Amino acid sequence: MKTIIVVIILSVLFAVFISFIHPYKPVNEVPYPEGYRKWTHIKTAIIGPQNPGFNFSGGFHHIYANEKAMEGYLTGSFPNGSVIVFDVLEALMHGDGNTYEGNRKHIDVMTKDSIKYSTTNGWGYEEFNADSKVERNATALGKRNCFNCHALQKNQVFSTFRK
Ligand code: HEC
Repeated sequence: MKTIIVVIILSVLFAVFISFIHPYKPVNEVPYPEGYRKWTHIKTAIIGPQNPGFNFSGGFHHIYANEKAMEGYLTGSFPNGSVIVFDVLEALMHGDGNTYEGNRKHIDVMTKDSIKYSTTNGWGYEEFNADSKVERNATALGKRNCFNCHALQKNQVFSTFRK
C-alpha cells in the first residue's frame, strides 16, 4: 500500500515537473510571422469606405509571402511551411490630395501545415492585433470564418503574384 502511495506521489511530482519545462501551449497555434516585412511583397490594395467591411479591414492591405509561399505563388502548389501575411494599415487622406499609411490595424496570417491544420484543409488562420506579436484576435469561430471564405479559392489563396 505504502509503495503505491509513493508511486502516485512521485508520478504527480513528475507531471508537475514536466509541465514546468513544457508549459501548455495549444499545438495548433499559428506562430507570429517574425520578419515578414522583409519577405516578398505580393500586392497592395485599398478597402474604401463604401465596403461593408471598412470599419474593421478598411485602409491599405499589403500581402507578403515567405520563400515557401513564393514557391506556391509561382507553381500553384503551396508546400508545408508556407506563410502569407495580410498587413492592414489605416489609409489617411491628406489635404494635399495624397493618401498615406497610418497605424497598423491588424495582421492576418495563413500558415500551411497539412497535419497540424488538417481540419481546415492544411492552412492555419490567425489574426494579431495592431503591432502586437502576442494579442490574438481570432476566436475558433473567427478562424472558421476565415476558412469558410478562403475555402472557395484554389489552394485557399485569393491573390496572385504579378511578375
Ligand atoms: C469574406 C471573405 C474573407 C474572410 C472572412 C477572410 N478573408 Fe482573407 N482574404 C479575402 C480576400 C478577398 C483576399 C484577397 C485580397 C486581395 O487580393 O487584395 C484575402 C487575402 C488574405 C490573405 C493573403 C493571401 C490570399 O488569400 O490572397 C491572408 C493571409 C488572409 N486573407 C488571411 C485571412 C484570415 C487570417 C482571416 C480570418 C481572420 C481571413 N483572411 C478572413 C477574403 C476573406
